[in-house]
Amino acid sequence: MKFFVDTADVADIKRLNDTGLVDGVTTNPSLIAKSGRDFIDVIKEICALVDGPVSAEVTATDAAGMIEEGRKLAKVAKNVAVKVPLTEAGLVACKTLSQAGTPVNVTLCFSPAQALLAAKAGAAFISPFVGRLDDIGQDGMSLIGEIAEIYSNYDFQTEILVASVRSPQHVVDAARIGADVCTLPPGVIWQLFKHPLTDKGLEAFLKDWEKTGQSIL
Ligand code: G3P
Repeated sequence: MKFFVDTADVADIKRLNDTGLVDGVTTNPSLIAKSGRDFIDVIKEICALVDGPVSAEVTATDAAGMIEEGRKLAKVAKNVAVKVPLTEAGLVACKTLSQAGTPVNVTLCFSPAQALLAAKAGAAFISPFVGRLDDIGQDGMSLIGEIAEIYSNYDFQTEILVASVRSPQHVVDAARIGADVCTLPPGVIWQLFKHPLTDKGLEAFLKDWEKTGQSIL
């Protein structure tokens, strides 16, 4: 399963990139607003840091406007994936941009039917939001299972990109289902490394090693 980082914070991306675990980045208008920076500048900077796809979201709500914005964003760097919302206009834009060779990430997906439409529109990625479904008392992860089942019946190229991830458990569940990508807030990636028994075990090993008086180098 690929790991994307769900942030527009360049410092966070730099640090995570050094772990070698980052396969791409996703942003959205809220994350750009949080960064307080110019949208195009941030996308350009992130694209130069990360080899994989970097999602940049359109803000027009009509198809023609989304296509125009998408074309502009696609020119920012070779690894931009244009993000469009799962609306009728979004899927029209998805089809046009995809046919022209631009990878499109269809976002704000909350149902298997919507995911089927996005695949038919040629999306490179479908982004189902698991955390926001959990927030309204539904089981977000079961949506991932349903989409995986539907896509496996056909030869769609659309990758399932699990979004709105809130915890390490979401990551494990997505991997068990076999999702293609999980986009993670930086904090969740750092949580994945941690286990109290790892810290405790390492402390004990180092104490015992000290008693031997040896050094490897
Ligand atoms: O990038 C979209 C998505 O991951 C948003 O997550 O936590 O705002 O629901 P969240």
